[in-house]
Amino acid sequence: MDYAQHTANGEIIILPSLLAADFGYLADGVRHADNAGADGIHLDIMDAHFVPNLSMGPDVVTMANKTTDIPLSVHLMMSKPATYLERFIKAGSDILLIHIESEGDIRGMLQTIRQLGARPGITLNPDTPAEAVYEVLADVDEVLCMTVHPGYGGQSFIESVLPKIRKLRSRIKTLGLDVDINVDGGIDLKTIGAAAAAGANVFVAGTSLYRAANMQESVAAMRAIAAQQYDSMKD
Ligand code: DX5
Ligand code: ZN
Repeated sequence: MDYAQHTANGEIIILPSLLAADFGYLADGVRHADNAGADGIHLDIMDAHFVPNLSMGPDVVTMANKTTDIPLSVHLMMSKPATYLERFIKAGSDILLIHIESEGDIRGMLQTIRQLGARPGITLNPDTPAEAVYEVLADVDEVLCMTVHPGYGGQSFIESVLPKIRKLRSRIKTLGLDVDINVDGGIDLKTIGAAAAAGANVFVAGTSLYRAANMQESVAAMRAIAAQQYDSMKD
């Protein structure tokens, strides 16, 4: 299954977040995730306005695209992403995620992402209700539920987001859509099970994977826990 070409359709996807890699050796961080059996790499783009932090830009996506063949999932934490969509897709983004809280024509941006050849995703901050994205569910391949307040890696998983994930999974099922639910923030071996049991099937993990003694073993262990919990949720 190729995460870049096809909606995961319930398959478990594990994405190390490059934000937690050593910025002195970012290409090694990309290779590390690839060698560990990750399904793709998550790249966090922060504009110092939508969130207080600054992180990386399109050149880092270009570097990752040259360094690996696994899919690149690019998370735009930007107030006004519209004028940057093309640059990030040309740089090699396979999945491009914007925030529902961003400014601009959200549906138009999602359609532009698809027209430019990438998979569109919509992201919600922890305090944004599920209903906020209902009207764009048919326009996306992926919904990303933030399980921390965006801006920094290494924060604790916010459990109160779990009912929202359940609600979104149920809505997606009722509508008969093929939309992945991604979770991002504080995902580790202890929290991944609850997120999967609530209906998430795509998992971003920065600190827990880049700090792991053996990333390959951690990816495999996360995948096993998530698969078990996701399957029991479906029954
Ligand atoms: C936070 C970012 C996350 C971050 C996750 O704003 O969107 O992708 O890298 O890091 P961990 O897994 O350390 O919470
Ligand atoms: Zn992210």
